Amino acid sequence: MSKTHETTAEHYEPGLYEIRIKGHLDDRWADWFEGLTFTHESDGTTLLYGPLADQAALHGVLNGFRDLGLPIISVQRISANTKRSKKMKADVYEEYGSPDVLERKENEKPAPEGGELLNSKSRTQESSRARRTAGHGGAMKAIVQDGYGAPERVLELKEVDRPSVGDDDVLIRVRATSVNTPDWITVAGVPYILRLQSGLRRPSTAVRGTDVAGVVEAVGKNVTDLQPGDEVFGSLWDNTLSTLGTFAELTVAPASQLIKKPATLSFEEAGASVMSGLTALIAMRDVGQVGPGTKVLINGASGGVGTFAVQIAKALGAEVTGVSSTRNLELVRSLGADHVIDYTAEDFTRGEQRYDVIFDNVMNHPPTATARVLAPNGIFIPNSVGNSGGLFAGLPRAARAVLMGRGSTDVRFVTYVVNRENLDALAALLESDDVKVVIDKVYPLSEAANAVAHMLGHHARGKVVITVGAREAGDR
Ligand SMILES: NC(=O)c1ccc[n+]([C@@H]2O[C@H](COP(=O)([O-])OP(=O)(O)OC[C@H]3O[C@@H](n4cnc5c(N)ncnc54)[C@H](OP(=O)(O)O)[C@@H]3O)[C@@H](O)[C@H]2O)c1
Repeated sequence: MSKTHETTAEHYEPGLYEIRIKGHLDDRWADWFEGLTFTHESDGTTLLYGPLADQAALHGVLNGFRDLGLPIISVQRISANTKRSKKMKADVYEEYGSPDVLERKENEKPAPEGGELLNSKSRTQESSRARRTAGHGGAMKAIVQDGYGAPERVLELKEVDRPSVGDDDVLIRVRATSVNTPDWITVAGVPYILRLQSGLRRPSTAVRGTDVAGVVEAVGKNVTDLQPGDEVFGSLWDNTLSTLGTFAELTVAPASQLIKKPATLSFEEAGASVMSGLTALIAMRDVGQVGPGTKVLINGASGGVGTFAVQIAKALGAEVTGVSSTRNLELVRSLGADHVIDYTAEDFTRGEQRYDVIFDNVMNHPPTATARVLAPNGIFIPNSVGNSGGLFAGLPRAARAVLMGRGSTDVRFVTYVVNRENLDALAALLESDDVKVVIDKVYPLSEAANAVAHMLGHHARGKVVITVGAREAGDR
């Protein structure tokens, strides 16, 4: 660690920082550094600047660069008076609001739904959100988040305004939803760097959850193929950690991200399946192009995504190896895996077997080790932000995988896309005998904090579900 680095961290003051690193940071990092503006300088360095809320954030950023092997040249708190700093501040305040405004808003403690810290990416989405959260027509119960930290500390059941419906939206009475990675990340506020996207001091939207299964309450004027009373499932996901939430009695989703729920599926099964099921489907069908005879290894085979992936790969005709802890081997086998590996006894990256597709939902091995057991022309699908928390968690490892993909290894990422075509394909699989939804535990809405804490343990067996209203926990 450089002297500058230590000195700066020791004498930390909150404010705007300018960090210069050697080399040009890959543009693919842009999403992960959202909120920290970076520019490629003509002298071959990269200049990052933006607000750092506390000393832990500064340490974390610097450690992250060190982990990535990116030499830090200088770290400076920006003086308030230079022309350059004024321009930087203007840019940053444009994105986040000025510290005065932030302070004032924090002191006022407004009802959190409104989203006082706008996500830099989604101003357009924000205006449609504002419309959808305008809150006409009474109150509803929702799990509201204030601050980041332990779920039981930052999540609380409260009365909030009911959301109102945009022209292309559907108001849904939620019956079931589930906990996914974006939810626990945004509750815990780790990896810390992602707070730059979700909101520095508290998330810009207060209600978590994106998967939904429920009953249509009302539709916007452009929605013609769904009507009140229809049972639907789908997602609110809008590609940001600020997606409006489903841990509530009512929610609003774009009609284009909902389909009618098959009658054979329970609300719990439908609400549990969306993000995990679609991620697994897209990974196996589109990214891995899995077909008959493809040798697929799934790391994290017993979790939310893994339990779907094992079954979908089998349905596509693959020879599947599932990796899990000892207690979940039987579960993974029961889902159709041809081979299972107990990671507590055996390291799959050191085995003799070679795989055409490796779908890694854990990223607990260096990407180079995992790539060693790829067959020639094999495809490596890294798919985890890691479990370790901290500032960057597994992101540096994912970044190394990106860099590895520039060499001879075929590295491909899963982009989670919710649309009716994908939902229909998932529904067809769920209606067949090929794929069943594995549910570890069902919690009532009032215990949503426990549901998120369950996911934060990183050893859920399949999905963690939250039920709302008439159907409560255990009522399956
Ligand atoms: N690309 C996307 O759009 C997208 C969408 C959703 C999720 N994801 C990613 O998918 C990943 C998995 O999500 P999930 O919902 O399936 O998570 P999850 O339900 O928490 O599953 C975690 C899995 O990790 C395994 N695991 C935990 N610690 C382990 C260790 N030390 N060594 C090996 N395995 C370990 C667990 O197995 P045992 O219990 O047997 O230990 C379990 O199977 C997440 O990291 C997330 O970032 C990506």
